[in-house]
Amino acid sequence: MFKKIICKNYEEVSLEAFKVMKEVLETEKAPVLGLATGSTPVGLYKNMIKDHKETGRSYKDILTFNLDEYVGLPKTHAQSYWTFMHENLFNYLDCPEENIHVPSGEGEDPEKNAREYEAELAKHTVSVQVLGIGSDGHIAFNEPGTPFESVTHVAELTEQTISDNARFFEGDKTQVPTKAVTMGLASIMRAKKIILIATGANKADAVYGMLRGEKTIECPASILQDHADVTVILDEAAAAKVAE
Ligand code: PGA
Repeated sequence: MFKKIICKNYEEVSLEAFKVMKEVLETEKAPVLGLATGSTPVGLYKNMIKDHKETGRSYKDILTFNLDEYVGLPKTHAQSYWTFMHENLFNYLDCPEENIHVPSGEGEDPEKNAREYEAELAKHTVSVQVLGIGSDGHIAFNEPGTPFESVTHVAELTEQTISDNARFFEGDKTQVPTKAVTMGLASIMRAKKIILIATGANKADAVYGMLRGEKTIECPASILQDHADVTVILDEAAAAKVAE
């Protein structure tokens, strides 16, 4: 079931997302947070950092599981998702490093990394999963065509996603890795609660597909139509096709 919140601007979007996060932090003793990279959740993470600083809320009992990681980048690479999460969130909280899980894209056998990640994830129930959405309807790196039953696996990035992400690689598409270890759609669906954040006109079609389109693997986010508790937080541009 979707709860849709349409906001005037990115600050408001980030605050609304934080409200949902805060409720989880306040009601669960040791919450398991499913976290996402990308531009969209950065404002939410800023609110979490501010909350930690200003209210003294401790994050030492949380466990975190990130959605995905590029294959072939060492975790300390400037554009790895491990680095992104540390620079945008973990370095500013008191969450112990051993509580943080980001899939590994390193080594000779990323498929094995994916299996091990899924096994660890399966020991827990994610309290709240943060998601962005790709302009092609992907969630995590589950691109159109990914089976709804998928668990953590190695995925090929589509041309669209490689172009969208080139901005993080000085606009050079050839620098963008072509594969990623990603939680699957079934892995994501096990979360108790989901916050999906989308901003900008380039997300409007994907948002429409997710909320109002046919449930189909051609729009991976449409699987969320079957989830019991999804809060979709949008700015007006991303909500342009679902506003009424
Ligand atoms: P973005 O990515 O937040 O950088 O737009 C979203 C996504 O691809 O899931």
